[in-house]
Amino acid sequence: MRLSHLSLLNFRNYEEESICFSSDTNVFIGNNAQGKTNALEAIYLLATLQTFRPAENKDLIQWEKKEATLRGIFEEGDVQQHYSLHIEPLGKRPRINDKVIKKTSEYFGLVHIICFCPFDLQVLQGAPVLRRRYLDRSLFNFNSQYAVEIGNYYRAFLQHNAALRIENEEMIEIWREKQLFLGAKILLKRLQFIAELNTLTPYLYREISGSKEEVSIHYDSEIKCSNINNLNEENILELLKDKQKEVLGLERKLKRSLVGPHRDQFSVFISEKNIKVFGSQGEQRTAILALKLSELVAMEQKKGTKPLFLLDDITSELDEKRKGYLFESLKQKGTQVFVTTTDVKSLKANDEQEKALFKVENGKIQPL
Ligand SMILES: Nc1ncnc2c1ncn2[C@@H]1O[C@H](COP(=O)(O)OP(=O)(O)OP(=O)(O)O)[C@@H](O)[C@H]1O
Ligand SMILES: [Mg+2]
Repeated sequence: MRLSHLSLLNFRNYEEESICFSSDTNVFIGNNAQGKTNALEAIYLLATLQTFRPAENKDLIQWEKKEATLRGIFEEGDVQQHYSLHIEPLGKRPRINDKVIKKTSEYFGLVHIICFCPFDLQVLQGAPVLRRRYLDRSLFNFNSQYAVEIGNYYRAFLQHNAALRIENEEMIEIWREKQLFLGAKILLKRLQFIAELNTLTPYLYREISGSKEEVSIHYDSEIKCSNINNLNEENILELLKDKQKEVLGLERKLKRSLVGPHRDQFSVFISEKNIKVFGSQGEQRTAILALKLSELVAMEQKKGTKPLFLLDDITSELDEKRKGYLFESLKQKGTQVFVTTTDVKSLKANDEQEKALFKVENGKIQPL
């Protein structure tokens, strides 16, 4: 999969811009606050209808303007798909090949994209909710049904909590059953995903860092679920029910549900040390990047398509050696890459790969 062309109209600090891309690596170079991240954000939005940073629709539209439009041509083999996204303060209207897309599920699953941006470091450094969100979003990329299941799970969880608050025994029973039933489905998918990451991430970490360190990912749950091979939805449900019985009294006292995937997270270990506690910033960055590259490889294996890869602010995120390994590894994978940097020298120096360079200045993009 590659993006061959992008045009922007009244998007962020871009009034009107149109760019053709290389199918290898594309580099946006420019000083701070010129529009580099905005350009990546436009690509991400077109592919996913979401942005990778907190923003409302109105923030995406150029100040003083009423609406923004993004257009892009995605190509897979000989097939071209014309995507467009019209953004107004109250909503987004996507089209594929001029056909209005009413259900967003029709839009997903066609273009795959993975983004690495400075905020991602928070996935490893921040609160468990960020790691859960990361897992859920990644899983959703592989299986759009997962988004429905997680939505249903959280609805059951909230109803269960409401029933606990009003001490309605009948409702507690109904919603607890439903929550645990849906919880088992989610847990199994998350465990399978973590197991898959564990077959890829350690190798990719070593590839980027050039080190021999052992990386592993652990799923942290109150239920014992270390041997994934012996687990299925039924026995996970049994484990959840057993755990739930243990905390029944406490749940009634605290009036909230205490068992289920809403409490879980994952931890990354380097040489058996938890990276959140002991890892350097560089190790944490490399680990999250290795996780994202694992997604890329897994996506290719499962879906038979190479996702687009976005890297924001690469200059400040990784040292020379790691950047070199990263570009080499992306080149070998044949992925289309979009990178932003303030310093082109650091990119040129460490690998020989041809790159399409674009100068970004005050909302204008010029090929170099
Ligand atoms: N809705 C908008 N309308 C007009 N300008 C906007 C809008 N939203 C953001 N901007 C401006 O776009 C500019 C460029 O932002 P962007 O995040 O793309 O910079 P950048 O080139 O990535 O810089 P840095 O190197 O600092 O990360 C900022 O100055 C910002 O104020
Ligand atoms: Mg930026």
